[in-house]
Amino acid sequence: MKLSDKKATLSFSDGSPSIDLPVYQGTVGPDVIDIRKLYGQTGMFTYDPGFLSTAACASGITYIDGDKGELLYRGYPIEQLAVKCDFLDICYLILNGELPNTKEKTDFDGLVVHHMMVHEQMQFFLRGFRRDAHPMAVLTGLVGAMSAFYHDSTDITNPQHRHISAIRLISKMPTLVAMAYKYSQGQPFIYPRNDLSYTGNFLRMMFATPCEEYKVNPVVERALDRIFILHADHEQNASTSTVRLCGSSGTNPFAAIAAGVGCLWGPAHGGANEACLQMLEEIQASGGLAKVGEFMEKVKDKNSGVRLMGFGHRVYKNYDPRAKLMQETCKEVLQSLGLENDPLFKLAMELERIALEDPYFVERKLYPNVDFYSGIVQRAIGIPTSLFTAIFALARTVGWIAQWGEMLSDPEYKIGRPRQLFTGAVPRDVADISKR
Ligand code: CMC
Repeated sequence: MKLSDKKATLSFSDGSPSIDLPVYQGTVGPDVIDIRKLYGQTGMFTYDPGFLSTAACASGITYIDGDKGELLYRGYPIEQLAVKCDFLDICYLILNGELPNTKEKTDFDGLVVHHMMVHEQMQFFLRGFRRDAHPMAVLTGLVGAMSAFYHDSTDITNPQHRHISAIRLISKMPTLVAMAYKYSQGQPFIYPRNDLSYTGNFLRMMFATPCEEYKVNPVVERALDRIFILHADHEQNASTSTVRLCGSSGTNPFAAIAAGVGCLWGPAHGGANEACLQMLEEIQASGGLAKVGEFMEKVKDKNSGVRLMGFGHRVYKNYDPRAKLMQETCKEVLQSLGLENDPLFKLAMELERIALEDPYFVERKLYPNVDFYSGIVQRAIGIPTSLFTAIFALARTVGWIAQWGEMLSDPEYKIGRPRQLFTGAVPRDVADISKR
């Protein structure tokens, strides 16, 4: 980051002396006002619940221009990455800053795929869960448990350990998600195979059984790979910020990523894909297309507590570029699987059409986000709704671990410790229990 010639001056209406605050410039996007010395100089904090105007770190991984609807990984537009690369190219790019050449790609793909198998003992840990446990509950536990199973790579001061942990997390996540699914179905776990792609392996571990050969469908493989690409990183979102905050205490990467998985689960974040499909299913069950208008009235009524899931975003105030790509993939997959007349896809298209013309959504700049169509694709592939957020976690793991590594390498990194505006009781004495 570069110090700007410009300074910000903060003045007070009560005559207290004004102060100058440095301004820093990034390579693109808004400048930031450096308030680190504000408390020392004024005895005041800033107040910004939800981090609406706060850059909590400097980062060179992902850039979003929410007004333009632009998403760049390491400077490359998502629209180009989605058609020219596969998910492991994206992982390499996000981790290393550049796309791999042919040799680097062969080596990296081999490294990741050869580490997809998990410690055999993990299945016994997994078997302690109820079979009807939510996959995100299971995944939070399994990822946290990796720090016990892979304790030999938890020295965060050792760059080699950090690299090994990153590869372990990226490569083992599909295996853990598939194991959580198989366990819920009462089916045997399927081991990964070194001759399949990362995404092909995931599909096989999910859907193969020992009873017959499983052939990966290339259209489905490509569609799922695109889902992974579109979810790989998204700058300082809630779960990534959680990983950074958790990791800032110096905890091991598996514990930090487990915290991210827990955060992602919420319906305002990664849980939105599951909530979106449930919403579509409910509208369908209540009468389908004929009920869309009625549902939209409920969404606009603030007292109903109903939101149009898969719509709106903290940063995008334009069409989420990931949603456009996801809609394309959705059409391709439905067509290739002979599901072009899928009623939920028709419902989604109709909801989108109405929303894009309705002043409520237009004025608030609410557009479809990545989750609006991803659930329909996953459902068509055969992935159960309850697993959608776990798929998101699998894909986001590379972003989380890259952001965690970037934080640890930042010379300005400190433990995250927000302050507060205290509104509770002023100091008072404890009365004897008989007098309370
Ligand atoms: N349906 C109806 N109204 C909405 C919606 C929605 N989906 N999203 C926002 N609004 C309204 C909201 O009621 C508010 O109206 P008003 O100004 O009259 O009070 C206004 O739009 C601004 O909303 P906000 O909640 O202040 O915005 P935010 O930036 O805090 O929240 C959000 C962003 C994503 C949490 C929110 O849009 C939302 O809840 N969307 C539905 C859940 C969803 O799809 N989440 C996935 C996000 S993308 C995947 C990911 O990164 O995890």
